[in-house]
Amino acid sequence: MKGILLAGGSGSRLYPMTRTTSKQLLPVYDKPLIYYPLSTLMDLGITEMVVISTPRDLPGIRSLLGDGAEFGLRLSYRVQNRPEGIAQSLLIASDFIDEDICLILGDNLFLLNGELARLRSLASGQALETAVVVLCPVKDPERFGVADCDAGGRVLRLVEKPKLPTSNLAVTGLYFYPSDVAGLAATLRPSARGELEITDLNNLYLAQGRLRALRLERESRWLDAGTPDALLEASELAARAWRNERKPAGYPEEMARRRGLISQEDYEALLRSMKPGTPYLEHLRALSASLWRS
Ligand code: DAU
Repeated sequence: MKGILLAGGSGSRLYPMTRTTSKQLLPVYDKPLIYYPLSTLMDLGITEMVVISTPRDLPGIRSLLGDGAEFGLRLSYRVQNRPEGIAQSLLIASDFIDEDICLILGDNLFLLNGELARLRSLASGQALETAVVVLCPVKDPERFGVADCDAGGRVLRLVEKPKLPTSNLAVTGLYFYPSDVAGLAATLRPSARGELEITDLNNLYLAQGRLRALRLERESRWLDAGTPDALLEASELAARAWRNERKPAGYPEEMARRRGLISQEDYEALLRSMKPGTPYLEHLRALSASLWRS
């Protein structure tokens, strides 16, 4: 399965922090926000990805991540000229989508646990017959796409930012689509706010009886870091994971080594090439020490 990392948008809820830079380059604890969704795709076993951002921000993101080779990845880049909706990313990357695709939003941070095996098998198993959305119970569902499901996990209804939510299950920014997704996305019309809505796309799959939902397990965590409070919470979550549990969150170098995408020699060379004395490098060194012990 290939991946799309969508890292554009105007970041208006984070203004003025986003006045001159991308939301996805803002710090979350010890690293830029975009490292987290990048590491999540890697954790799922996805190595070939398109990164999409704005004309202003794409150069900065590209100079941060490069061609991905140091992480054992193949990264390419596309511009989204205007923030005309999450589903537009599937049109922008349509030439890239010749197999199933996993789309992740650049401001979403996942700490996955029990469901990782199921998500990995979606990403590496047989061709998908249905689209799959990932749901998470939240306190403020009106901020998100919301799903009503039956007891078997079948989605009954999806609504984007409902004023009166009928469930607390938010649709997270991690989506799995069969390879026909670009064709379906091409039939979407802009919503009242002028965007090609990802919820409309998911509702098309739902109407065809081809949408499944997977619920995050209780011990997993998910955050959309798109507001100042959520950005702070994301930093606190990542710092806690590190300080209390020595749990790696959002370290692509470590993920590349752990998933066998780069050799031990390449990993060590990569660490040697990094600016010495930074907390980030210290964290990587501590992680690699525990990685080789286990
Ligand atoms: O985070 C999950 C939520 O993301 C879902 O529950 C909603 O259904 C979905 O619509 C989306 O809602 P948001 O209001 O959080 O979307 P936002 O406009 O903040 O965009 C999310 C990410 O996608 C962000 O990193 C910017 C990027 N983006 C967004 C748009 C609209 C783009 O790159 N281009 C775009 O045109």
